[in-house]
Amino acid sequence: MQSADTPKKVFIKTWGCQMNVYDSTRMQDALESDGYSPTDNMEDADLVLLNTCHIREKAAEKVYSNLGRIRALKKARAETDRPMTIGVTGCVAQAEGKEILAREKSVDLVVGPQTYHRLPQIVARAKTHGPQVDTEYAVEDKFAHMPMATRKQVQARGVTAFLTVQEGCDKFCTFCVVPYTRGAEISRPHAMIMDEARALVDAGVREITLLGQNVNAWHGLGPNGREMRLGELLHDLAQVDGIRRLRYVTSHPKDMDDGLIEAHRDLDVLMPYLHLPVQAGSDRILKAMNRSHTAQEYVDIISRVRKMRPDIAISGDMIVGFPGETDEDFEATMDIVRATDYAQCYSFKYSPRPGTPGAEMTDQVDETVKTKRLARLQALLNEQQVAFNASCVGKTIEVLVEKPGKTSDQLIGRSPWLQSVVVPSHTGGIGDIVEVTVTSANPNSLIAQPAKRIVD
Ligand code: SAH
Ligand code: SF4
Ligand code: F3S
Repeated sequence: MQSADTPKKVFIKTWGCQMNVYDSTRMQDALESDGYSPTDNMEDADLVLLNTCHIREKAAEKVYSNLGRIRALKKARAETDRPMTIGVTGCVAQAEGKEILAREKSVDLVVGPQTYHRLPQIVARAKTHGPQVDTEYAVEDKFAHMPMATRKQVQARGVTAFLTVQEGCDKFCTFCVVPYTRGAEISRPHAMIMDEARALVDAGVREITLLGQNVNAWHGLGPNGREMRLGELLHDLAQVDGIRRLRYVTSHPKDMDDGLIEAHRDLDVLMPYLHLPVQAGSDRILKAMNRSHTAQEYVDIISRVRKMRPDIAISGDMIVGFPGETDEDFEATMDIVRATDYAQCYSFKYSPRPGTPGAEMTDQVDETVKTKRLARLQALLNEQQVAFNASCVGKTIEVLVEKPGKTSDQLIGRSPWLQSVVVPSHTGGIGDIVEVTVTSANPNSLIAQPAKRIVD
């Protein structure tokens, strides 16, 4: 039996990009201040939230198959004193809105990414008034209305943290749903970002990753009232006492300005890693995708970045089988991958998304052709990743220790280039930056031994 003062529990399942991961933490924080404690066990939750992704067809379908299973759980709890409330949040919620309620009757609330700050009220209202849908683009700024994470909440999440600085997208690539699910591009104010960064570092965070759908489109007024861009924001964040590492993701080639490229040369705390998706290597396809740059312009940006920071690791995203993509276009994608030499790169088959121009194009590529192209592309990308990891063997590098390893004699940390690094547990403690020598490399991780001492 649950007494009235037993804390209610919330279970949040997250799909999609880092922004969704960040949003889940913020929703959890908001619900915690409303009396919910987090649980990892869905069956024991009073409130189940599915924070969803709409980027490709498979991602959206997963939501419905999960809801099917949760329906049974909810039914079993219906007659008890702990009924279950089910919510769909995130980009599927924004894109499908009340259609979700029509398709899956067990859902109590559908909340889009711009109204999370109203979540506690929406949950309460769903319990008394039945199913709720809130997919407005709220006029008020959700960030201004969400409580800052408490010290305890930050500490529970470890020594690395995400911080959203920009959200939404005005670029309208013809394959992409993000401008429709996340709305117009907005930048958070400089002061708010600095405050959140200071609070994170005060609570023990050592590495902050700035997030945005187009993070390098961030702009805002600095403390002196002057307009600034991401490179300058990184300079200011580098001054925060105690911050040891900065990263940012995801960038668009069009917004890769000189100030940002130079920050990679000038700031030691800015990690030598750049996620800069190009999507395709053929100018004809880039144009059809509305990417607004050529393959050569991308290659030129990469070489400028490498000139400023020779040890930088480049990462990216690629799509194969965009409508109209010929064998020749695909070979151009293979060429740009060879020219870039990625340390790591995601690759996807094009997935037509309802409401986007790409889905209306008549020259869709056959699924079997997409499958073959993806296999060839992934073989090449895999070769590059293995080679990059192998090139680290013998090097002495700094690793931020993040968490326990699979066995008690191991710890896991991150290299400056975002590789997972397994070190012996006596190397240092969680949160330490340790100097280690890489002894061997796997496709997805490095193995290292302490070089000498804890750096910090
Ligand atoms: N804002 C980022 C990426 C957002 S989505 C950018 O501009 O690069 C993350 C990745 O998903 C994209 O880079 C793209 O490679 C992939 N993606 C987006 N829509 C897709 C679709 N319809 N089919 C296949 N992959 C897609
Ligand atoms: Fe999507 Fe393009 Fe915007 Fe990235 S820049 S979020 S791929 S529309
Ligand atoms: Fe997916 Fe939305 Fe992120 S569609 S990739 S969760 S912005």
